[in-house]
Amino acid sequence: MRFDVVTLFPEQFSALTGDGVAARALRRGIARLVLWNPRDFTADTHRTVDDRPYGGGPGMVMKVAPLAAAIEAARTATAAAGIASRVAYLSPQGRPLDQAAIARRSRAPGWVLVAGRYEGVDERLIEGWVDEEWSIGDFVLSGGELPAMLVMDAIIRLLPGALGHASSAAQDSYAEGLLDFPHYTRPEVVGERQVPAVLLSGDHAAIARWRLQQALGRTWQRRPDLLARRGLSAAEQPLLEGYLSAHRAQAPGSARAPQPMPAPASTPGPGANRAGDLGGAAPNLAGATTPPGELAPGKLAPGDPPPEER
Ligand SMILES: C[S@@+](CC[C@H](N)C(=O)[O-])C[C@H]1O[C@@H](n2cnc3c(N)ncnc32)[C@H](O)[C@@H]1O
Repeated sequence: MRFDVVTLFPEQFSALTGDGVAARALRRGIARLVLWNPRDFTADTHRTVDDRPYGGGPGMVMKVAPLAAAIEAARTATAAAGIASRVAYLSPQGRPLDQAAIARRSRAPGWVLVAGRYEGVDERLIEGWVDEEWSIGDFVLSGGELPAMLVMDAIIRLLPGALGHASSAAQDSYAEGLLDFPHYTRPEVVGERQVPAVLLSGDHAAIARWRLQQALGRTWQRRPDLLARRGLSAAEQPLLEGYLSAHRAQAPGSARAPQPMPAPASTPGPGANRAGDLGGAAPNLAGATTPPGELAPGKLAPGDPPPEER
């Protein structure tokens, strides 16, 4: 996949091209990065790329002409290489990026990313040259370079051949709508903490079952909105109930009473109840009714942090 990034600070991208998975993939030609500096598309001696905002106020605004010329040069170059690229502006006002959007983009042949600076870019640049706006979260950074690198890193690790084990990305958080299960490595004992016995058993089916159960349990605790969207299969429901029972037994009385939760922004999938609608009943995201009390409502609330963080 080819990335064309329009940036005033191309040198910052050495953070991505220096070491790690993305750097290796770039070196091996799995991904390609081309940087375009709007200053190279200015005509004045000061190579001006910004100006004061109309209407007054603090800060500077990035001018249309140098950015538009850089974007057009990037589009011409990608088209000459036979690649159709959409133009995305990284912006705190954009659509929030998530793993599903990253996965969709990883199947595109190219992407032109525009990194803003100062107060942002002249609105007419967005209207005339930008196909989509993406945000990396509800906070404001000083520039779009870190968001562009973040997006590229997330995409590149999904490209075939980028990771040592192709299956690692498929097991990561969000890939299946769940958070990842916990990981352990040597030694077996750290202080008083042991590696869960099942992971030492050599029983691959039991290990797979335990990992799925852990993934379901932590998603229930930390991101009930994800579970509400995804729902549970008939096989997963008892696994989650088992996790919650074990969790209560380990930390009796430490969990808060269920908190009413705001409805998730998106519509839950078929058969999925909203975690916030459970009203103290057992978690049942597969559509079946679990009798209230079976999971001792009040002991574990959706979104409760695990005992060690309370
Ligand atoms: C200081 S910000 C401009 C913020 C803008 N005045 C606003 O409040 O919407 C400068 C640049 O950083 C980038 N940026 C900042 N926060 C971002 C976020 N959450 N997601 C993506 N890009 C962001 C954008 O490219 C933006 O043009």
